[in-house]
Order: sequence, then structure tokens, then C-alpha cells
Amino acid sequence: MTELLYLTDSYKKECVSKILSCVQKGNSWEIILEKTIFYPQGGGQPSDKGFIVGKKGKAVVKHVRMMEEDVVHECSVEGMFDKGEEVTCTIDWERRYENMKRHTAGHILHEAVMQVAPYLKPIKADHGDKPYIEYQGSIPMTETSQIEREANAIVKADKEIITTFVSLKELQERSSFVPEHLPKHKPLRIVEINGYNPISDGGTQIATTKEVEEITITSIENTEESVRVYYEIKSHEQKRSDSLQDTISSQTFISELIELEQKANQKPSLTEVSVDELKKLSQSMRSVPKEDKQRVGIVLNQVKQSLEALLSKKAKESGIVNEDWMDVTAPGIRPPVGHLHIVTQAIEEITEIFNKLGFTRVRHPEVDWDWYAFEALNMPKNHPARDEWETFLINHTPGVKEVHTPGVRNIVLTPHTSNGQVREMEKGILPIRMINIAKCYRRQIDVSHTPMFHQFEGLYIDKNVSIGHLKGVLDYFAKAFFGPDRKTRIRPFHFQFTEPSFEVDISCGICNGKGCRLCKEGWLELGGAGMVHPVVLANGRIDTTFYNGFAFGWGVERCFMMKSGTQLDDIRVLYGNDVRFLEQF
Ligand code: PHE
Repeated sequence: MTELLYLTDSYKKECVSKILSCVQKGNSWEIILEKTIFYPQGGGQPSDKGFIVGKKGKAVVKHVRMMEEDVVHECSVEGMFDKGEEVTCTIDWERRYENMKRHTAGHILHEAVMQVAPYLKPIKADHGDKPYIEYQGSIPMTETSQIEREANAIVKADKEIITTFVSLKELQERSSFVPEHLPKHKPLRIVEINGYNPISDGGTQIATTKEVEEITITSIENTEESVRVYYEIKSHEQKRSDSLQDTISSQTFISELIELEQKANQKPSLTEVSVDELKKLSQSMRSVPKEDKQRVGIVLNQVKQSLEALLSKKAKESGIVNEDWMDVTAPGIRPPVGHLHIVTQAIEEITEIFNKLGFTRVRHPEVDWDWYAFEALNMPKNHPARDEWETFLINHTPGVKEVHTPGVRNIVLTPHTSNGQVREMEKGILPIRMINIAKCYRRQIDVSHTPMFHQFEGLYIDKNVSIGHLKGVLDYFAKAFFGPDRKTRIRPFHFQFTEPSFEVDISCGICNGKGCRLCKEGWLELGGAGMVHPVVLANGRIDTTFYNGFAFGWGVERCFMMKSGTQLDDIRVLYGNDVRFLEQF
């Protein structure tokens, strides 16, 4: 008769015992010990597992059962054991503790059920992998949460679990439930959760209810005569990690993938290929434990690729799709958005600034008579001042009507916007506040010149116009275009069409007029200006007894370069059409 040590101390993990017998039965060995800590399967609690180690042999205990008065340890054995030999027994404690907790949880749950449905009669219980208690009668599903609450209240109350060995008589008297078949060769014992009814029990129990941590009722299944209350125990830590990650074993995941691939291969038509299923599976990749992700990912990709290949193969076979297949769900290609050329941007800005002063932008011909470009501006034919404008001449057709002055029939590509002055005066509307922005052409090309460039020409004709007005307009423009800190200054100069004439400078933006490496003297040259020459006014049929005015004409490109601080070492890039440069503005 084996002494059952677990009955008195369920927390004993190791013991020393003596071999009573060790016999081979088929492939395995059966060992009987003098005393044991191994729990033999019964009463709904699974058997323990573990090791028995002797001097010459080691046994792995796979299953334990009661046989009459003896406990039989079914083992695989390496080496040998002698009868009477002293051995060390160790149980798989993790497994035992889990079983023990589940077992006690069953008792706790029973007490909770009794509180909610005291009319039920217990039939049996299983505290194994899918633990449940079965009762005669039925429980409404609606009671689930109530029972669960009661059970966890007992858990939390940290009640002591008391086991007492009793005689049959005592057992019958005290136990609320006596099973039909009581074990013949085991001492009788009752267990009671402190404060609740005792019940006959021969299993291993934990010391207090708190150790269970939490009981969850997974389902209540009512049949015709009986009802099973299925439950689970979960440590709080387990619960936390479960909620963080509803883990799926990598092995399951991989086998599902492979199964999916096989199914897809067998299916005859394209529509049945389970792309959706694959999608779903890809999503559950999240649930794969971190350490397995890489391994599973490789398989997932392989299956994806093979499914895609299969899809396109089947699509081709079925003629649904041809090689020119287009994915209409693919995101569109955003067309590159361009912007106005930087010179156009500058022209717009200049126009706006002068608009505010009441100057209106006008257009005059960019291919014009010599008269407007030179003669009317007080530069008769062969005048040496013309040399400053290296002008392109247009071959005129013989017989073209002479203009204005006999013999002045030459046509030029306008070398400056000043041709607009007399043209504007000819309109006969006074006062004049024009801003003429146009292309200009000169026979010059180098790092600071392009044969085509732009000028903006201001012309103001009114009564009593002074240099002060000119200076005011220049300053306003300089501040608006270049920044509020900038100033202008005028220096005496010479133009045939203005008197007096000036060269306009703007204070350097880097040194603020003090002088630096860029500007040398603190000032940068902007362009020409002056009070309109009476000859020009006369050519424009303006009555000079009442009217006078000023004019100025500057390069757009030059102003742009001075403003942006782009110290372009070659102005030609502006017209080089290299988008890598132009895109920057
Ligand atoms: N037309 C002159 C030039 O091209 C500039 C200018 C315009 C000067 C108007 C005075 C008045 O240099």
C-alpha cells in the first residue's frame, strides 16, 4: 500500500522513497513506491508527471494511476532500479500547481453555483484541460455573470481551504455531496472552503482561494437533464498579456497558410482563389508572437507570391486578363505642377507696386520704328549717343511709308522701353501715369547680358512735376520691392531724352549703405531716370507750357537678381530652360 504524501502536503515538490517494484509492461515500466508525492489521476484531477531518480537509473513519469492500494507510476526508464532502492522523486510542479488551482477553482465555482441555483445536484466534475462541473437540472444563461461574480468574490475573500481526514460515517454526515463510488483504498477526506459546506475530496488543494486569481465562466451548456458549467482560471499576468496580444501560435499560422495555398491550387476558377482569406491571414500576423514574426513572415511572403503567380496564370488562362492589364485601383500619378517663370513673377510684382501709385501697365510695340526708339527721344540719325544701345535693325521692305520725319523708315527691335514714352503721349490723354514693361533687344551676350531682356519704363506727365516726385516714386518702389530698410539715391548722369538725367542707386541690402565686398561703396546701381526733355514732350505733342514730367527705365532681370540675393554668376541661366534652376523659385 503506497502512502499518499500529497494528501497531507500538496505543496511538496520532492520526496525520497523506496522502490517496491519496477516491472516492464509493453513499452513502458511500472514503478510502485513505498510513498509518493505523485497524484494519481482521479476525482476529475489529471495525474502528475515528473522524475524518479535512483543510483543506476532515471525514470520519466508519464502517467500515474491508482491500482487497488498502490499507486502505479507509468514511466520510460533509462538504466535500472533495484527493489528496495532509495530514489528521489520530483514532480512537474508547474503542471501540478496549475491542476491544483483548477481543482480548487472547481470547488469555489461549485459554492458560487450553489448560491445562485441551490436546487442543482452535482453529478461530476473535470478539472483537466477543459474544466467543468456538471449538475442535474438547468441554469439560465442569464445567471452566468452572477455566478462568476460570486465565485470571484470567494477568490478575493482569500478563504482558507481546510482538508480533514474523516471516517465514512463522518463523511456521510458532514459532506454536502457523497459520490456514488468512494475510493476503497484511499483514506477518506473532506475539504471545506472556510465558511462553506464541506465536501468529500481526495485531490490536491491550494492553501487559500486567492491563489486562483480569477475564475472565468467560458460557457454554460444546458442539455435535457443536465447542465455543464465550463470555466477557466487565468492569472492576472496571463490575462494582461492575452489582452495585449491575442497570440496565435506560429505553427498554427504556418499550417493555415500552407493549407490556403493548397486549396487555391486545387480550385479551378480564378474567383474562388481566396485572396480575401490571405488578406485576413496577413492581418493576423499581428497576433504572432514577436520572436516568431520573421519566420512566419517568410512563409507568408512565399504563399503571397505563389498565390499572385497563380492568380495571373489563371487569369491568363481564362482570358479575363491580357498582358496590358491595368490596375485601376492604383493611386494616380500626380502631375508635376509648374509655376510662372521668375521673370514673369517679377513683372507681376512690379506691376502691382506701381498700380498702387496709380501707374497703369501698358504695352507698346517691341518691334518699332526708329522714330520712337531714338529719333523722337532726341537722338537724331547718326547721333553718337545711339551707340550705347547696340540695336538690331529690321530690313524694311522698300516702299514702306515713311514715318513722321522724311527718311526715318528704319524698324528696330526695341533696345529699351523708352519707345513707349512718345507713343503714350500720342494717345493724348493727360495726365500720364504709365508703366510699360516689355522685351528689349540688344546685340550683347555675356555673363551679365542676354540679347533679349526686360525693362520697365515709368512715365509721369502732369502739371508741376518735380524731381521730388521722382525721388518719392523711386523710394516707394525700392521699399516695396526690395524691403523697408532700403533707400535710393540719384546721381547726375546723361541721357538725350531727359534733362536733368540721373543714375539711380539703391542702398546695399547686406551692409545697409556702409560699404561691403558686394557693393564696395554701399550702393548698387539700378538704372536711369530723369525729367522728360522738352523735345520729347514736344514730339509727343504735349504742351510744355503747362506740362512736364519724369521717366525712368530699369531692367527687370537686374532688379530680380538684386532682390533675391541670388548672386547669379551668369544671367543667361534665366533663359537656359534648365528646370533644376528654375524650380528653385
Ligand atoms: N532707356 C534708358 C536705358 O535703357 C533708361 C531711361 C529711361 C533713362 C527713362 C531715363 C529715363 O538705359
